Amino acid sequence: MARIVKLEATGPVKIEPSEIPEGKALFICACGLTKKFPFCDGSHKPTRDEEPGCCYRYDAATLAREKVD
Ligand code: FES
Repeated sequence: MARIVKLEATGPVKIEPSEIPEGKALFICACGLTKKFPFCDGSHKPTRDEEPGCCYRYDAATLAREKVD
């Protein structure tokens, strides 16, 4: 089974230290490309130069991307 999910975030959601018992900031992946779900591992960096209004498909293993219509 597979599914396609459209995400528009190009960076993580930061959970402030004051919101969690450990007192250390957490960065939750919002781009969908992390290999350490649910935590950001920096894999969002290739999304930073995406063109507004365009849609891209990323290869999960290599993070290579292509534009899709
Ligand atoms: S937000 Fe997804 S890897 Fe950083």
